[in-house]
Amino acid sequence: MKVCVFGASGYLGASVYQLLKETAGTDVVGTYLKDPAVFDDLYKLDINQPESFSEFYKETQPDVVVWSVMSGPYEDNLIQEGLRHLNTHVTPETKLVYVSSDFVFADGNGPYNEDDSMSKLPDDHKLSTYANAKVKAEHFITQDLTNYVILRAGPIYGENMVGKMDDRTDQLVYQLRLGHTVAYRDDLIRTFVHVGDMAKAITEFVQNARTGVYHAGPDRSMSFYEFMQQAAEQYGFHQELVEKGSEHEEADEEVPKNIALNTEGIKHVVKQDFRS
Ligand SMILES: NC(=O)c1ccc[n+]([C@@H]2O[C@H](COP(=O)([O-])OP(=O)(O)OC[C@H]3O[C@@H](n4cnc5c(N)ncnc54)[C@H](OP(=O)(O)O)[C@@H]3O)[C@@H](O)[C@H]2O)c1
Repeated sequence: MKVCVFGASGYLGASVYQLLKETAGTDVVGTYLKDPAVFDDLYKLDINQPESFSEFYKETQPDVVVWSVMSGPYEDNLIQEGLRHLNTHVTPETKLVYVSSDFVFADGNGPYNEDDSMSKLPDDHKLSTYANAKVKAEHFITQDLTNYVILRAGPIYGENMVGKMDDRTDQLVYQLRLGHTVAYRDDLIRTFVHVGDMAKAITEFVQNARTGVYHAGPDRSMSFYEFMQQAAEQYGFHQELVEKGSEHEEADEEVPKNIALNTEGIKHVVKQDFRS
């Protein structure tokens, strides 16, 4: 089986790439964009460049494609150009595993089920480019393809297989080492998912015949405050150094406060447990 991981030099993609390399019977290729790449054997490719993308894709002819790409303020380009172009190359025999986000839910209150309606943030919202591009991506995939898995995740955390930590925990540890106290909101609820568990679940979907939309993560959701207290303790700091942030400090009425995901469905299709 030939697998292509787009974003193999990224935080999540590097773990997926490494795991697939260790999987017998799997021939894996991966792409990166900015030097230096995390692995020596990745292909440098801008997914938004149609000619080089087509050339790469036709040469690679994967059975499974993993989309672990993210481009922050340019996320819309990535979806409008890169993902749409990819969809034109993918045959019904090729499976796409697309990593999506809890940000596809902008209305209502979690925990959300897989079939709850997605909604977009107003264009002037600071997170709208990324969040709305994810909604758009899911629409393109479900309209254009049949052989796909969309895996939605909340904040991904922990050390990946090449020793990289998520930015939030990195910042927390940095501030605590400087002797600062830090504050996080207790009213923003998410389903935090460990990078290792997420990567293993992706590799299961690469190998199984399951398709559809799934929410990845543990049963338990928590606030940023609770999560950061837990992380502080894990890195040897007192929990009290993490304080409750003001609920009005970054009041943002457009982002649902509770965008926890109901993760019941994924338990029936992959063996991977998600730690909380
Ligand atoms: N991190 C989270 O908390 C989180 C939560 C929910 C969902 N997700 C989703 O998980 C996936 C992986 O996220 P991540 O945290 O691993 O992101 P990341 O560390 O920023 O990695 C994203 C990768 O995308 C590559 N990339 C960006 N623009 C590209 C382009 N035009 N052409 C080719 N490659 C390009 C980057 O390549 P270079 O490194 O070479 O520049 C990078 O390796 C994304 O789909 C994201 O939306 C992440």
